[in-house]
Amino acid sequence: MPNPSRNPSRFSERETEEYYDAEDALYRSFWDAEGSLHWGVFNSPEEPGSGPAVREDFLAACSRLNDIMLENSGIDSSARVLDLGCGNGNTATWLCRATGAHVTGIDLSGVRIANAIESLGGVPDLAPRMEFHKASATELPFADGVFSHVWSQATIYHIPDKIKTLAEAYRVLQPGGVMVFDDLTKPKPDISEEARTFVYDRLLFDTDFSFYSYMDALRETGFRVLEARDLSAHLARSYSCLSQMAAAGSDPERRERFAALSDAYLKMVRAVHNEELGWAQYLCVK
Ligand SMILES: C[S@@+](CC[C@H](N)C(=O)[O-])C[C@H]1O[C@@H](n2cnc3c(N)ncnc32)[C@H](O)[C@@H]1O
Repeated sequence: MPNPSRNPSRFSERETEEYYDAEDALYRSFWDAEGSLHWGVFNSPEEPGSGPAVREDFLAACSRLNDIMLENSGIDSSARVLDLGCGNGNTATWLCRATGAHVTGIDLSGVRIANAIESLGGVPDLAPRMEFHKASATELPFADGVFSHVWSQATIYHIPDKIKTLAEAYRVLQPGGVMVFDDLTKPKPDISEEARTFVYDRLLFDTDFSFYSYMDALRETGFRVLEARDLSAHLARSYSCLSQMAAAGSDPERRERFAALSDAYLKMVRAVHNEELGWAQYLCVK
């Protein structure tokens, strides 16, 4: 099996941090105005239609991913949850509201963590059970075994040292603790120039994990893998929706950027169909 810790992505955490600090407004303008930034699980992953229903379908699919992961994880009011790569804190807040759990979010982006902390002012009933910190998933500022659950959405692919990230998640979980997360995968090592440029380089990431070798890495970290779902077809449909949503972006100053994004998203769809990009969700236990 390839060893991603010896072959980390060419992108640094610094570049990722600057990217996410800078691009919050752009993504809110067409992806999710609330600031959430992940993909969705559709009732059926066939190609989307067109028109305003595309946005509704996409956002409903993003909520469905949350519901599936919550149902899998067994998080309840007694849980202490860590959201790795919490972004603007939307899912962390939803989790706290839905379950009554104590939820801690960490993210590399200072801008997003500041947004998350500010948003707590709007939910004073939840604020005592939530906290957000700027930190890297590769160096968690928490003692061993303090969380019952680690939750992560659309984050680990960005991190050059994925093995260290999994080891940190394992370290902060209590014995019997649960990790539930989704991540991008690379189904085959040889990819086209188009996929390299418009998928991997554009998103500042690389990975050696396929759907299957990810499970090997989780087991080598010490986890028991309880469930694994290949969601690649849903990733393709997510990007078909996003391509239309970006093309409909109305800010005239960003028209060129939207057109370029819309086009890049179609290339993401093609990369999934060519098995150059995948998406998976895992449930594992310490
Ligand atoms: C696509 S966004 C997903 C955000 C959030 N989970 C959501 O669903 O809206 C990826 C997030 O990963 C964060 N990130 C990237 N590398 C990280 C690292 N090493 N440690 C913590 N967060 C990281 C980024 O700053 C960004 O907020």
